[in-house]
Amino acid sequence: MADLTNLVIPRHVAIILDGNGRWAKRRGLPRTMGHREGCKTVEKTVEIAARLGIDYLTVYGFSTENWKRSAEEVGALMQLFRYYMVRLLKIAKENNVQVKMIGDRRRFDQDIIEGINRLEEETRGNTGLTFVIAVNYGGRDEIVRAVTRLLQDQENLPERSSPWSGERRITEEQFAAYLDTAGMPDPDLLIRTSGELRLSNYLLWQLAYTEIYVTDCLWPDFNQEELEKAIVQYNNRERRFGKA
Ligand code: IPE
Ligand code: IPE
Ligand code: MG
Repeated sequence: MADLTNLVIPRHVAIILDGNGRWAKRRGLPRTMGHREGCKTVEKTVEIAARLGIDYLTVYGFSTENWKRSAEEVGALMQLFRYYMVRLLKIAKENNVQVKMIGDRRRFDQDIIEGINRLEEETRGNTGLTFVIAVNYGGRDEIVRAVTRLLQDQENLPERSSPWSGERRITEEQFAAYLDTAGMPDPDLLIRTSGELRLSNYLLWQLAYTEIYVTDCLWPDFNQEELEKAIVQYNNRERRFGKA
């Protein structure tokens, strides 16, 4: 294990968990077995992040593009989602974790929507780690939904409470308040497993100045040691935010 004393723990860690399918393939197993293992890794990562004192952990569970996978795989992911929502409620209660979901939940079956609402409601008062799961999430979709609501407010709100001032200009802060991540700090560190060097439509607005760490480790193999390696690397980066 890395020695984390004297290291800055990033306040918000975002993860693109990738490589479940490849993990299964290497073992001659169906892809869904990789997803099952991947869910276990998510559970463990929540506990580790809470222990390390990370404030926000945001993981990409299902993208707006993942509906293009086979009906069999999408169905299996939905079943896993149902099962792990129940387990997550227990883990969240045991670890003082607050759970939030970002993404457009309206596309899910009613029982899943109710499960998501329940998870959020029952963990609202928890004061430890905030665990955010991105489901039916896409960065572009999030921005378009934000703009849609902004335009609705422009029509419905009285002039003085509308984010549009007389000049029809809004600030970045006002816009960010319409995103699913409203009220959350931007990620400090983005981790992508399984070696792919792309964002895959994840947190496009929020990642503007995030440090990126990519590991070849496949998501089901991710563990505390891997997370600590990413944090050590993060501490070796110079965050400049455009300054010289
Ligand atoms: C990530 O693993 C999980 C989801 C996208 C739901 P993948 O299923 O993308 O695994 P690979 O990329 O095919 O190995
Ligand atoms: C990104 O992984 C989405 C999630 C982790 C949920 P993908 O496996 O779907 O991304 P691509 O297709 O490799 O870009
Ligand atoms: Mg993938």
